[in-house]
Amino acid sequence: MTTVLITGGAGYIGSHTVLALLEAGHEVVVLDNLCNASRESLRRVERLSGRTPAFVQGDIRDRALLDRLFHEHAVSAVIHFAGLKSVGESVAQPLAYYENNVAGTLTLCQAMQAAGVTRLVFSSSATVYGDGHPMPLHEGLPTGQPTNPYGRSKLMVEELLGDLAASDASWSIGLLRYFNPVGAHPSGEIGEDPRGIPNNLLPYVAQVAVGRRERLAVYGDDYATPDGTGVRDYIHVMDLAAGHLCALNALGEREGVHIWNLGTGQGHSVLEVVRAFERASGRAVPFRIEPRRAGDVAACWADAALAERELGWKAERGLEEMMADTWRWQRQNPQGYSQDD
Ligand code: NAD
Ligand code: UFG
Repeated sequence: MTTVLITGGAGYIGSHTVLALLEAGHEVVVLDNLCNASRESLRRVERLSGRTPAFVQGDIRDRALLDRLFHEHAVSAVIHFAGLKSVGESVAQPLAYYENNVAGTLTLCQAMQAAGVTRLVFSSSATVYGDGHPMPLHEGLPTGQPTNPYGRSKLMVEELLGDLAASDASWSIGLLRYFNPVGAHPSGEIGEDPRGIPNNLLPYVAQVAVGRRERLAVYGDDYATPDGTGVRDYIHVMDLAAGHLCALNALGEREGVHIWNLGTGQGHSVLEVVRAFERASGRAVPFRIEPRRAGDVAACWADAALAERELGWKAERGLEEMMADTWRWQRQNPQGYSQDD
């Protein structure tokens, strides 16, 4: 079994992946500065797994801390989630996004190189495909022009990692392009806990259902989609976590850069999501149609065949399960982790 460093491991996708790795018997070291997470998520991961990951509170931009971490722990691979992820915030604060996401990854790679650790799984996003491709999106398509600094930071990191792997054959790097992660662990103990008003659809819908917000704004019903609302490929976070484990294993036998979409291959509209959530929760989700949101595409879903062929991984959970698990998490934790460190 390997020791894996998980940056951003206290966050939404990170905490579910830490749990999956602990359950698979790996040793885990989490590095997180808690800028968008609570220590409570890892306490709950400990309870669920009966195991304790090492936790280092700190920043991926802190080179001295990284050098110490690699010296103290026999890390053989890194899963790199740490970064900022709000599209709107990235427009207002581009430097913070390039500093965290691009410069942070650069510092992490420099420390990995110095420590001789060359296996890396990176959290990328379907946003790097940009606009204008026919659906579904497959990994062979050229990357496009993301419409915001967040998306550009992901693309820059993909390119940086490509150059690194091309310069030294000892690197093996997986670029995982996530579609729309939703859902929670089936226990309802860990889940997504956004700070402030949620930007993303599912956390907003869940907060309306639980009574924290009055109604959902549906951004546009005049898209060229079956019911006019935006279509996305929602993927259960448990499936996503399993995908990281498969990628980690696959990279052990490969060199160079490998790109894998992590999606279900199926699109659902905003209204389909709302109705599915109402069924799962037994609560009404009032909504109002509002103008389109700037930067949104009409539809986006994955061709997920490559991950199935090369990783032996396939998303197994459908929309009903995503909604039921989101609702359980929201109902059991109406205020999230309460950020009560
Ligand atoms: P998250 O905010 O819950 O997790 C990110 C974690 O990184 C947080 O715990 C935060 O405290 C930590 N962090 C941020 N900057 C850091 C730094 N400089 N040093 C150390 N820790 C730092 O987000 P998430 O949804 O779990 O996303 C994880 C990754 O996946 C991110 O890189 C995100 O861009 C990417 N991603 C997310 C989505 C999505 O919709 N959730 C989609 C595509 C890609
Ligand atoms: N939507 C609403 N109302 C809301 C929020 C969202 O109608 O309050 C709609 C959007 O217009 C879109 C769909 O719900 O049609 C999904 O929106 P999200 O904000 O949940 O997700 P996006 O597809 O816009 O964005 C996600 C990630 C980004 C990533 C992008 C592309 O959040 O980080 O996918 O991969 F860049």
